[in-house]
Amino acid sequence: MRRKVNPEQVRHCGRVEAFGVDISFFKRNIQMKRKIMKNRKSPENKNAKENFATAESMASSQREISVSEFFLKNRHLLGFDNPRKALLTAVKEAVDNSLDACDEAGILPEISVEINQIAAKRFIVSITDNGPGIVRNQIPKIFAKLLYGSKFHRLRMSRGQQGIGISAAGMYGQLTTGKPTIIKSKIKNSKTGHHIEVQIDTRQNKPVILKDQEVAWLPEFFISSPDGKTGPAATSNHGTCVTIEMEAAYARGKLSVDEYLKQCAIVNPHLQLHYRIIAAEPAPDKTSAEDAGKEPLAKPQGENPWITFERATQKTPVQPFEIKPHPHGVELGMLIQMLKDTPAKTVKAALQHDFSRVSDRVAKEICERAGLNPKERPTQIAHRESEALFKAIGETKLMRPPTDCLSPIGEKEIIAGLEKEIKGDFYTAVTRDPEVYRGNPFQIEAGIAYAKPGENIDLGAEEPVRVLRFANKVPLLYMAGACAINKAVVGINWKSYHLSQPSGSLPVGPMAILVHIASVWVPFTSESKEAIAHYPEIIREITFALQECGRRLSVYLSRRRRLAELERKKNYIELYLPHLALGLKQILKFDDRQEKAVINKLHRMLERTHLEQT
Ligand SMILES: Nc1ncnc2c1ncn2[C@@H]1O[C@H](COP(=O)(O)OP(=O)(O)O)[C@@H](O)[C@H]1O
Ligand SMILES: [Mg+2]
Repeated sequence: MRRKVNPEQVRHCGRVEAFGVDISFFKRNIQMKRKIMKNRKSPENKNAKENFATAESMASSQREISVSEFFLKNRHLLGFDNPRKALLTAVKEAVDNSLDACDEAGILPEISVEINQIAAKRFIVSITDNGPGIVRNQIPKIFAKLLYGSKFHRLRMSRGQQGIGISAAGMYGQLTTGKPTIIKSKIKNSKTGHHIEVQIDTRQNKPVILKDQEVAWLPEFFISSPDGKTGPAATSNHGTCVTIEMEAAYARGKLSVDEYLKQCAIVNPHLQLHYRIIAAEPAPDKTSAEDAGKEPLAKPQGENPWITFERATQKTPVQPFEIKPHPHGVELGMLIQMLKDTPAKTVKAALQHDFSRVSDRVAKEICERAGLNPKERPTQIAHRESEALFKAIGETKLMRPPTDCLSPIGEKEIIAGLEKEIKGDFYTAVTRDPEVYRGNPFQIEAGIAYAKPGENIDLGAEEPVRVLRFANKVPLLYMAGACAINKAVVGINWKSYHLSQPSGSLPVGPMAILVHIASVWVPFTSESKEAIAHYPEIIREITFALQECGRRLSVYLSRRRRLAELERKKNYIELYLPHLALGLKQILKFDDRQEKAVINKLHRMLERTHLEQT
């Protein structure tokens, strides 16, 4: 019987690809396993009781695993575990990169996010920014090589840190649709832009360029006029647009792209953000989702207005500086590596120049404590006395690491962001002083938006408060239960701030709590960057920031309660005032004029006491 050829499979130069992914490894693996099985059944092995592997047969199947292959199998580690989350992760990675690039280049960011559903389960995601653009040679590696980026090796606050974000989104698109990642980018000093299409060779974790053209292109940003029609585009002279086609699902709610973008606008008040989703209607004659998935179902574009989150400030955030590692945050293995790699000629110079907060005097003190000659060559130390040196570092008192590597949002800006996006009656924010965990500086900020009960439908008076979590200005939507932020919020006694709180749970009330951690290295619990690890120093700082917000909230709530009580009393008295005057009229035989005068006098008296009390 002849086997059917899958039209999506392409065979060339010994490689077999399915949906753009090299599957020749799997074919080779099957062939190899067949060979091993055949060998085991050979006459020499006839008497073997069991089909155990030998060192030789195991050796033949031992091979290197490329990082792309690893994450292709373990895509849940990067936030691609289900179609809905995949859509959010792809948007998140691209928007984070755009914001990082703009902040780094000192550009006020303007970003547009367009999601176009072309079939029930298929989406084209396009993110455009007015950032500095990317030089042509770097584009293939940035978008089609995992673990390639500019932020991993430096100690400076940024949204991305692992060099795995956008390339993973492209790889997911390639896996689920076979389509390449399309990048258009233009830098300031160039007349034209580049249009490049890339895929990942997952076996080698290397980019494959499918298209590379010089084009006349400028990033465009659309807004909608009040009648919902798309207006003319504003353009920028530089920027990047990345487009990924992928299998995904869209749903509104707390874990949606909409929520992510709204929260982005809160913590990035300097961001001008445009968003539209062109959601497809299921075909009328297609009932099952399976069938609808195969049909292109796009709606006419004019029907979908752009939503714009206006920027609330023209101020660009303070630029954080890169710092060197603090000796107290360095582990033994890293110390040995640093001593091996240092260009310094002596161990004293290495300590002084490769670490922060080590002066000439402190470097000598560390060497003395470790029993080392300060003039010794660092490479010698790396082999021998590194443990003594490590111990000496731990015992030496050092200044805390510098904190200009952090760029907090700021109290005024947090309040502006909250006021802009969350309707409320009371707002407050606290920015704590920087602290240190494992030698890494970090800073906690917290804010509260409290609405009058019933005035904001998103903040129910009888529901648990909404906790908005942020790390380096990036909203964290998933894994709230595993996050240090939630642990700190639940650990606070909110009853002392006039909120009800079931034991071991979030407080209840029409309130949103914002917590932001800024750090040179945010300790996420996994590569998908969704929850903060439970470092006691971090939980303590979050608690202090929230307690301060809580104190301010309780002042507001008691004042509001007092006012409401007085209002109630005033209404009560006003209701009976005419009856009182009538009684007085009858007892004291007042005429109408005197009765009116008594009512006025009582009114004035009541008002005076009311004002005095508030
Ligand atoms: N829109 C963009 N504009 C400018 N540079 C970008 C953009 N997107 C990505 N980059 C560059 O590509 C690198 C890799 O991005 P990514 O894979 O998301 O990793 P990370 O953000 O963790 O470094 C970034 O470090 C940045 O230097
Ligand atoms: Mg990134």
